[in-house]
Amino acid sequence: MTADCRLVLPTEIIYICYVLNYLMMKQTITVNIKGISSFAADAELRSVTDRAISSLRMLCDGTGRGSEFTGWLRLPDQAVNETAAVKACAARLRTLAPVTVVVGIGGSYLGARALTEALNDPFAPKEHTLLFAGHTLSEDYHAALLRYLDGTDYNIVVISKSGTTTEPAIAFRILRDHLRNKMGVAAMKSHIVAVTDARRGALHDLAVSEGYETFVIPDDVGGRYSVLTPVGLLPLALAGYDIDAFARGMLDMALSVREGNDTPANIAVTYAAARNTLYSIGYSTEILISYEPSLVFLAEWWKQLYGESEGKESKGIFPASVTFTTDLHSMGQYIQQGERKLFETVIHVADSRNKLVVPGATDNSDGIGFIAGKRMTEVNHKAEAGTRLAHIGGGVPVILVGMERIDEYNLGQLMYFFELACAISGYILGVNPFDQPGVESYKKNMFALLGKPGFEAERERLEKQLQGRG
Ligand code: PA5
Repeated sequence: MTADCRLVLPTEIIYICYVLNYLMMKQTITVNIKGISSFAADAELRSVTDRAISSLRMLCDGTGRGSEFTGWLRLPDQAVNETAAVKACAARLRTLAPVTVVVGIGGSYLGARALTEALNDPFAPKEHTLLFAGHTLSEDYHAALLRYLDGTDYNIVVISKSGTTTEPAIAFRILRDHLRNKMGVAAMKSHIVAVTDARRGALHDLAVSEGYETFVIPDDVGGRYSVLTPVGLLPLALAGYDIDAFARGMLDMALSVREGNDTPANIAVTYAAARNTLYSIGYSTEILISYEPSLVFLAEWWKQLYGESEGKESKGIFPASVTFTTDLHSMGQYIQQGERKLFETVIHVADSRNKLVVPGATDNSDGIGFIAGKRMTEVNHKAEAGTRLAHIGGGVPVILVGMERIDEYNLGQLMYFFELACAISGYILGVNPFDQPGVESYKKNMFALLGKPGFEAERERLEKQLQGRG
């Protein structure tokens, strides 16, 4: 198939290519963009698809902006052979204590949280409990955590690529003091693992001087693309999940959507092109929707990935998220009838892990007798299909991302797909998807207001502003 040929392909042929591609690859994620067809013109979609394909090529041959941070593209090829050290560390920590506190924020937190929440059985007793800290400056949160930790042995996995991020640095100080008081310096050191830069940063230096076990975040992998490094893998292994299956899922998706598949049938291209076509005609907010509460943090991870990668230079789709059907009883009204600038990306999970049937009732006083005997997943799927049609009818374009089930392998596929599509989207938009210069502004102000040496003049200016005098 030549590049010229692709330009004139009608949408139906693209769908057929896509189905053939799906059958040939070990790809379990699907993308269906029929729900945007009444909103976006074919010609516009084809032209953005062409830009998505050249963006994919730029990404793979390292000629795009920020190419020094594209090491994540090829992480899956090595990771399958590199999980042994992570598993050994997790096994060691699990013998030391029943609880591990994972300290980190942003890309050093959300991937692990997304995975462990997605796979978690919320009501089952845990073999090993994972808790999170350093993702907030809340005193109450950390005080409550310490009260809980007073009553248990625990480990700390502290994750920070720069090693200087304020929130995890504060939490780590507090937790390290707590652990030291609990068990003494020598024992404490064996309970702490640091995941950080190979050579520099305050955390790196502390880990070396204190002799903590360490794992490296590669130089060419930015935080929000780091889930397939020890940043995501160590917490996942600690919680008892299959990191090899996760890595295999990432690899199978990488082989399916990375280089060699620069066609409109590539689902990362399809998704990136669809969302950017919608953006170009005024749909500036994308809502990621799932019908599974276990995916709430996957949506948080997705929002960070897309928000930090695309939102710059006064451009970018605003990433939002809701969980249905819960939020149909809150945000559903706005989505159906509010301002028409929204589009949706719906994660459809084909199969649930459990089977639960709606029981019959002799009196049928609740009026739902017609649902009796059906599985809850069937009801959930009908709610999903009905909502999709209602929203399309109400003026909201819908992209459908399908996954077979929520497990390590499928989450690996899904996350790599979203990462690749995000980088392609950034290039379509013309921004560097691998930096986050805007994050510095709040930090500078916070440091100045807290009295950091060297920020005196800035502090004075900000104080005046706060008092309404600036
Ligand atoms: O994606 C990113 O690069 C950021 O969200 C970082 O992960 C986040 O700011 C935390 O940085 P660090 O790992 O240096 O503490």
